[in-house]
Amino acid sequence: MCGIIGYIGQKDAKPIIMDGLKRMEYRGYDSAGLAILNGKSVKMHKKAGKLVNLQNEITDKDLAGSVGIGHIRWATHGAPTDENAHPHTDSAEEIYINHNGIIENYLTLKKALEEKGHEFYSETDTEVLAHLIEEYHKEVNLEKAVAAALKDVVGAYGIAVVSTKEPKKIVAARLGSPLVLGIVNDGEYIVASDVSAIMPHTREVVYLQDGEICTLTPEGYTITNLTLEEVDHTIEQVDWDVSKVQKQGYPHFMLKEIMEQGDVVHDAIRGRLRPEEGLAHLRGFIEHADRLKNIDRLIIVAMGTAMYAGMVGEYMLEEYAGIPVEVESATEFRYRKPVIDERTAVLAISQSGETADTIAAVREAKLKGALVLGVVNVVGSTIARDVDAGAYSHAGPEIGVASTKAFISQVTVLALITLFMGRQRGMSVVTGQRIAKELMELPEKIETILKQTDAIKEIAERYADSRDFFFIGRKYNYPIAMEGALKLKEISYIHAEGYGAGDMKHGPIALIDEDFPTVALVPQDSVYEKTLSSIQELKARSGKIIAVATEGDTAIDSIADDVIYIPKTLEMLTPILSVIPMQLFAYYVAAKLDRDIDQPRNLAKSVTVE
Ligand code: M6R
Repeated sequence: MCGIIGYIGQKDAKPIIMDGLKRMEYRGYDSAGLAILNGKSVKMHKKAGKLVNLQNEITDKDLAGSVGIGHIRWATHGAPTDENAHPHTDSAEEIYINHNGIIENYLTLKKALEEKGHEFYSETDTEVLAHLIEEYHKEVNLEKAVAAALKDVVGAYGIAVVSTKEPKKIVAARLGSPLVLGIVNDGEYIVASDVSAIMPHTREVVYLQDGEICTLTPEGYTITNLTLEEVDHTIEQVDWDVSKVQKQGYPHFMLKEIMEQGDVVHDAIRGRLRPEEGLAHLRGFIEHADRLKNIDRLIIVAMGTAMYAGMVGEYMLEEYAGIPVEVESATEFRYRKPVIDERTAVLAISQSGETADTIAAVREAKLKGALVLGVVNVVGSTIARDVDAGAYSHAGPEIGVASTKAFISQVTVLALITLFMGRQRGMSVVTGQRIAKELMELPEKIETILKQTDAIKEIAERYADSRDFFFIGRKYNYPIAMEGALKLKEISYIHAEGYGAGDMKHGPIALIDEDFPTVALVPQDSVYEKTLSSIQELKARSGKIIAVATEGDTAIDSIADDVIYIPKTLEMLTPILSVIPMQLFAYYVAAKLDRDIDQPRNLAKSVTVE
């Protein structure tokens, strides 16, 4: 949700900033801009639309200078226009600022500034901050002005600010929006929303914390709090494989990420299973084993795809560990009054670890005394740092806006947590061994589904002209029906709804006719016959059925119009296999419609605003 970058050093800032924006384009892509300082002179360019528009605008422009800031936007306040694109500047055009987040009290601040004579040119909340800093900067240096201005602000921000009055300085700060400092050399630094923008230049990073300000000059860097007292920080090494953030010959990141899913499961379980003993070894959870053993309730908080992974986890944990589990959208959790005590554990699931709603739910749960756990993909992200204990999902960088491999890794880790907590609560060694064995067999089974890609593509293309879809499933596959519908609408813009198979007759079935197809998840599990009956009810009303069924199921052939087969596995692990045809189906429908698959309209990868 917006990407910001700042560079200071000896090299030309322009290519470094443009490359960083390209790498962060998944965060937002409705406009982009940059400002480069060359001594006291500054050149700013901003363009609505994809990054390529900015690239075309600046191709033949002289933008020499070794200090600069850049921004890629996902609009919150004001439409995606050239005027609303960042950077924003003050009345004297001395201060240039990039911002990721929302200044909630911007209208009050704007009014006060207008009374002092400030004029505004955009509809953004960010421009207000530029003018506010200008007010303080009349008296004090840039970092002091930024710190003073931020004290007046209510909301969330990751910012990078430069001033022509101090042209060899970048001041960056964060509260609720991610910011990472990359240390390239003495006097050469990159600050960005995401390590992917930093990785080509250095592996040494500092993850800035909420309430911290980072001042970068050719003489060095300082990290302080809002009262400008230096704070301790740790330099960390990023061990991401750079090839993972390239398409490697695939037409889209989404397809590449779908194809990686066998390895993803392998990476998620590596070193964490004791198959002989039927145990899961999760370091963070072991540290809290006593408290975990005594919890009498678990609440899972997450958003979107991560929430659907949580729903699969709910079924697993209730069935195998006997713990009452509730799954809740983090947006709702934070504003009601959840009843929580020290015998409640809250588990946050997030790919990015930066989803604002999930972060707020984590903080609310901590305040109320719950044990707060996390399943997070991005190492060092806010949620990963905020929770009491967690297990990384180890999916590697996920670039496609539609989440695929992160989902599979989350469900795999939830299976490990089920094993861990189940064994604490009376699960037999034999059951533990069975789950461990089935988990280890998953990567191979995933490969057999991926080999059917061409067949799934052919089916998807035949249905690509449909205007609406239902996705149905039951028990462990109910969340997969929701996820299948989400995937399709996100990237194809086709209307799709996910339902429990048994829910159809309570209303939705009224919509069924020969032009309203249903994707039905019907593996041979404990609810197979029930789901089959629901499918028959749709067929009886001329509905077309695309079934996802277990290999060897011949009965489904005579009922469904098209069938995609998945290998047999333990019922609780079926979602890890059945979701793959959902992803491929959505992908090929969207490809047939020529959609912008990795950067679908109106969306951004990390939703770091409320
Ligand atoms: O980074 P997170 O896992 O916290 O993100 C949560 C959702 O925003 C995310 O899963 C979203 O629903 C995806 N675009 C779905 O494909």
